[in-house]
Amino acid sequence: MKRILIIAVAFLIAAAPSFAQVSIDRKVDSLLAIMTLDEKIGQMNQLHPDIHDLETEIRSGKVGSVLSVVGTEWMNRLQKIAVEETRLGIPLLNGRDVIHGFRTIFPIPLGQAASFNPEIVREGAAIAAEEAYHEGINWTFAPMLDISHDARWGRIAESLGEDPLLAGIMGAAMVEGFQGADPENISGIAACAKHFVGYGAAEGGRDYNSTNIPERRLRNLHLRPFKAVADAGVASLMTAFNDNDGIPMTGNTRLIRDILRQEWGWDGMIVSDWESIREMIAHGFCQNEVEAAYKAAVAGVDVEMVSETYIRNLKKMVEDGIVPISVIDQSVGNILRLKFRLGLFDNPYWQPAEAPSSEKALKTAQKAAEESIILLKNTNALPLNAYEIRSVAVTGPLADAPADQIGTWVFDGDVTRSVTPIEAIREMYGDKVEIIYDPILNYSRETLPSDAEKRIRRLSKADVILYFAGEEAILSGEAHCLSSISLQGGQEQLGKLLKETGTKVISIIMAGRPIALKPILENSDAMLFAFHPGSMAGPALTRTIFGEICPSGKLPVTFPVDEGQIPIYYNHNSTGRPSDGKEILLHDIPLNASQTSLGNKSYYLDSGKDPLFPFGYGLSYTSFEYSDIRLSKTEINPDESVEVTLTLKNTGKMAGAEIVQCYIQDEFASAARPVRELADFKKIFLQPGESIEVKMQISPSAMSFYDINMNYSMEKGRFKVFVGKDSDAPLVGTFRL
Ligand code: BGC
Repeated sequence: MKRILIIAVAFLIAAAPSFAQVSIDRKVDSLLAIMTLDEKIGQMNQLHPDIHDLETEIRSGKVGSVLSVVGTEWMNRLQKIAVEETRLGIPLLNGRDVIHGFRTIFPIPLGQAASFNPEIVREGAAIAAEEAYHEGINWTFAPMLDISHDARWGRIAESLGEDPLLAGIMGAAMVEGFQGADPENISGIAACAKHFVGYGAAEGGRDYNSTNIPERRLRNLHLRPFKAVADAGVASLMTAFNDNDGIPMTGNTRLIRDILRQEWGWDGMIVSDWESIREMIAHGFCQNEVEAAYKAAVAGVDVEMVSETYIRNLKKMVEDGIVPISVIDQSVGNILRLKFRLGLFDNPYWQPAEAPSSEKALKTAQKAAEESIILLKNTNALPLNAYEIRSVAVTGPLADAPADQIGTWVFDGDVTRSVTPIEAIREMYGDKVEIIYDPILNYSRETLPSDAEKRIRRLSKADVILYFAGEEAILSGEAHCLSSISLQGGQEQLGKLLKETGTKVISIIMAGRPIALKPILENSDAMLFAFHPGSMAGPALTRTIFGEICPSGKLPVTFPVDEGQIPIYYNHNSTGRPSDGKEILLHDIPLNASQTSLGNKSYYLDSGKDPLFPFGYGLSYTSFEYSDIRLSKTEINPDESVEVTLTLKNTGKMAGAEIVQCYIQDEFASAARPVRELADFKKIFLQPGESIEVKMQISPSAMSFYDINMNYSMEKGRFKVFVGKDSDAPLVGTFRL
């Protein structure tokens, strides 16, 4: 009788129509009030079907969420157990890594960032959410907002680039795409910003490694995109694997409770990373899993992914007065709040529905891929004119690699949706030009076959060679770091041999990270860089190569000359001895030169001070003229903005888009500021001859930072403004605060 009464009360609390008016927090409090300690701790436990017997565990009330259950039938079966066979019938969350698409694959996040187009990112995430929901998922572990300055780190592929403003804008667009516009009433699937925080600064670019980021830098750089998505209403957040200055992020009370919860007032749900609670033992931060559970719970980690230290230990610690019940209540409150925001109590089940249209998804994926392509070099070799050339040779390990072109983190990607470059070229231009195809290398790590030269001679008979090089998907992503970022296998050698034939070579690189491109650039008449562009790599690249569209992507990360320059990034502080690029290089040092202490600067003897390509770099087939650049004010008061206006004209012969970038430098401050930082950008599409007035804002948040006293402030003084097509943009004016 008592059980029936409780179920009835719970049902009323969750479903009564009058309840619609009551705020989610009131619903959460009411439900919490009737939960037992076991039921509460059960909500904090997340299990995986490959490791756990989900049905038994759910039935016993020990599970609040699962991950990686794919299929609505399976998920509905589990949901039915949670809803009908547990005392309170609280529905389950089902998380999955839906990182850059589900069945249809969009460019890897780093490629999406290269589009500088939040709208295309939002559309892609909305399609991914629809496809994932259709397969029983209601929560994705994305976006990843880790700022990385290290191309060796495999997970740079998943990041949204090195700039905190860009990562925040793209991350917020992804969140909106996944969740829908109203965070209180999520219409898609819940998003999860990860990894909180600093994980991208893993020492040496080796995954899971320690980070040592001081608090000012954490706040001025790594936390910024997280703040942007917290403000945009991201539903959840995942703690990172790294220890920062000795404290693993999963036990970091200061960051979670003080900054995220108290300062930011963010009320979403926090999940650990995979076993990252138990891993605090391996870190040497906890002696056993009891201590690990204690430290994570007290730090404010609401849900434990997989490692089960909560379910085994928290109850006793609460009963013994070691963990206050308020800690548990807060965490469970955060979990229930998300379940209400998702409408799970009203609609726990996935209804049978037709699969989302793959046609629409592929069209959007193609647009996203097109916008992510960056033209890095062009000596009048691109675009190809199909009416002028008679034949093209197609070669390289990425010309026909349907699984590699979709990149890392594609558990559910449908490889049969991939259209490869050779397929697209045949389909779109096979009737206009003769195509000679020979990959020479079958995969990116392969060394040159013994008959390579003979086969290359055949390719060189064509008017132009399209060389599709890069990385296999498996060479980037989690735990897939490299100490060398050069092209693998025989690819550089192949590039050289192709060039030596005297036929024009156009290199198209698809990779999960910045590559040390110098050797291959030297052997290319033109180069397109596409990261891993996803399902529609083929049509997107073919349209670009043949000039149906203009490339418009810009680099979202600095490309170093080689890994020895790492970490290298545009928004660094100035040293006391900045280089002016005129210093003597290795081969100019006279023999037996003696050491001097005069005139020394910060640079490398062998690779100088400059990267291969700066952040924001990317060429076009057309040309853009910037004119009449002016600032709205030369003096401002605190909390005022400055508007930058300019006229942009397409002075070339093709329609195309330019990404106009505005950078600032706070010249002198109580703590040194970066030499320049992106303050705003606009992506503008113009027809040939067309011009437009572009307005960009330098907002107070672009000028503010955590000062010498760790206060967030705008400091008095002069700001320099740089406007142009990349992060080397020229100085256009100054203003004073
Ligand atoms: C990764 C996370 C991911 C989780 C679940 C972990 O290994 O670090 O990013 O969301 O696994 O698959």
